[in-house]
Amino acid sequence: MSEQNESNKHINLQKAYNLSSPEDNVDFYRGWAEDYDIDFAGVMDYILPYQVATQFIKLNGKGPVLDVGAGTGLLGIEISKFNRIEMHATDISEEMLSVAEKKGIYSKSIVGDLTKGLPILDNTYNGIVSSGTFTHGHVGPEALFEITRILSKGGLAVLSVNSVHWHSLGFDNVLEMLKETGLVANVTEVRIYGDKCESDTKDDTAYLLTLSA
Ligand SMILES: C[S@@+](CC[C@H](N)C(=O)[O-])C[C@H]1O[C@@H](n2cnc3c(N)ncnc32)[C@H](O)[C@@H]1O
Repeated sequence: MSEQNESNKHINLQKAYNLSSPEDNVDFYRGWAEDYDIDFAGVMDYILPYQVATQFIKLNGKGPVLDVGAGTGLLGIEISKFNRIEMHATDISEEMLSVAEKKGIYSKSIVGDLTKGLPILDNTYNGIVSSGTFTHGHVGPEALFEITRILSKGGLAVLSVNSVHWHSLGFDNVLEMLKETGLVANVTEVRIYGDKCESDTKDDTAYLLTLSA
């Protein structure tokens, strides 16, 4: 890896964590979409999409599936390696979604802001998955209400939440509220990056939040 690549990757990850509004996210990912798979996922040995996909398949998740904050479609690719199920993608960034569309794994793309409500009817999806979107500067715990609104009865959601973000934004409190509505929730901790990652963030972890409606 060249020194130039290494420093670009650090700058982009730091910028991503410092975003503070949905509009910031739109601007930032517009400029990163074409390079994201190589500049971030490849260089960092980013395994979080694989972790979410594995958990979803292990728990017998069913379609249709919505990938929330789908970005360039890395999570959809991982699920498609296990199972050919109907998958849709949603993201606030049109540019990220257009990179995902070229991979041919999602039958529908929906541009939308998860924090403001998605243009999707209640109880639509049997499966909802997400990797890397509930993190610093992106989406907080309030968006879990939107996830549960569009999850069908009997459905399964597997969502990654950055571990530091989980504690700083109080995901626990929102989870308690959701449990009172009858949802079953489980949390496990996983690594975000694989063994080839050489960054000082290589040991960062995420919680995989599993919600069964
Ligand atoms: C780190 S990327 C993760 C993309 C992909 N899931 C992955 O694991 O590679 C975060 C994604 O969240 C999206 N995002 C950020 N804020 C959002 C919001 N308010 N609503 C929907 N998507 C959002 C970004 O556009 C970006 O594609």
